[in-house]
Amino acid sequence: MASSSFMTILTLAFLMLMRTTNAQLSTKFYSSSCPKLFSTVKSTVRSAIQKETRMGASLLRLHFHDCFVNGCDGSLLLDDTSSFTGEKNAVPNKNSARGFNVVDKIKSAVENACPGVVSCADILAIAARDSVTILGGPSWDVKLGRRDTRTASQAAANNSIPPPTRNLNQLVSTFNALGLSTRDLVALSGSHTIGQARCTTFRPRIYKETNLDSSLAQTRQSNCPRTSGSGDNNLAPLDLKSPTSFDNSYFKNLIQNKGLLHSDQQLFNGGSTDSIVRAYSNSYNTFSSDFAKAMIKMGDIKPLTGSNGEIRKNFLTIIWTTHKIEQDPIQQGKQGAPYSGPGYTTRPTWTDPLPKESNCPKTYGSGNNNLAPLDLQSPTVFDNHYYKTLIKNKGLLQSDEQLFDGGSTNATVRAYSKSYDTFSSDCESHDQDGRYQTPHWISWGD
Ligand code: HEM
Repeated sequence: MASSSFMTILTLAFLMLMRTTNAQLSTKFYSSSCPKLFSTVKSTVRSAIQKETRMGASLLRLHFHDCFVNGCDGSLLLDDTSSFTGEKNAVPNKNSARGFNVVDKIKSAVENACPGVVSCADILAIAARDSVTILGGPSWDVKLGRRDTRTASQAAANNSIPPPTRNLNQLVSTFNALGLSTRDLVALSGSHTIGQARCTTFRPRIYKETNLDSSLAQTRQSNCPRTSGSGDNNLAPLDLKSPTSFDNSYFKNLIQNKGLLHSDQQLFNGGSTDSIVRAYSNSYNTFSSDFAKAMIKMGDIKPLTGSNGEIRKNFLTIIWTTHKIEQDPIQQGKQGAPYSGPGYTTRPTWTDPLPKESNCPKTYGSGNNNLAPLDLQSPTVFDNHYYKTLIKNKGLLQSDEQLFDGGSTNATVRAYSKSYDTFSSDCESHDQDGRYQTPHWISWGD
């Protein structure tokens, strides 16, 4: 009896240990499964920053906006679906969060190097670190092993990401609630030593607040009209001195009442954080070492690990258009036969045999890498033939044909199949980051 209780306790202890182990992130998580991960991410981040220096700031902010909403789980990257409205269009992100196209590029480079292994949430964490380092800031060992969520919530994004109108005590409690200290708040706010803000986020400060250097107020007013709705998206650097260098001049600005956002200046406004701001303004090393530690803590917020979540392969925004011009290994068997490759589900019976089945043997493992065009008629032309094939049940992949399978997307497929112009103009309505351009603005701060 005693020995069976002992065994039960031992088993429970073992299971608890397993849970804890699963829940822990590790800097070596992918060292054998994806040895080239760090170099792959860094080279893509570096070339994005070479093209546009601000991109480093934008990538850093994506990791913050991911982690603050239900943990670092890649939720920010999900597009809206029929079952949830995602975070990209939440007030703090809409017309503001950027860099999604770069994350797509990193993800596809990583998928090339090690398919199906690395989560999007981890990619955001590494890209944030690399951005800071490339712009002259500190480096740190990024903890990895996060998995991606299958869902997202616009409401959670609206509620969890602090707006720039917050006062010090509100900022402190938002950060404390996520396990981040007041010192972490000040250190992480030092991210505003790089990047830009839109007029709508600092308008109330430059017209109404008195703890702002008057010449800076004047300069900013010249490009940010008083009336809401006019010039809302005009940009100004968060750090007026060196917005593309990761240094400590953000804190030097605060001491001179030159913080751009209300929330920035709250950190040096006669309150409990004044001394931390002073310390960081006097010593870049103190700031940078605290910043690195705080980033690691932020990256630890509620990760999905073990068997929770998934390793998301890609982002919907890029799949369908690339299918117009790429070729993939064909994975389907003969007419009506199930897919045989890993990760592929049964392809419904073809109403019309696909022309290339002769080049894809039924047995999995044989001819796996033989190619077939995704668009059987004009695979090298960017036209709307892909949609015409779907209507004839000639989509090559199961996921292709899902778009015309009696569901809510049938009408869109029909419209695109009838009009190349509709299809191509809908492609163009994505901006450079792959987000839909929407004509209306929701202001955040006015
Ligand atoms: C303390 C609370 C914070 C508030 C209220 C805040 C607010 C803002 C606002 C309003 C903007 C300008 C957005 C726009 O105009 O489109 C911004 C930009 C930025 N934020 Fe924060 N932020 C905070 C904390 C953080 C943290 C913790 C990080 C990173 C760890 C961060 C990184 C950035 C970066 C890098 C930019 C510039 C992005 C770009 O140029 O694309 N912020 N933030």
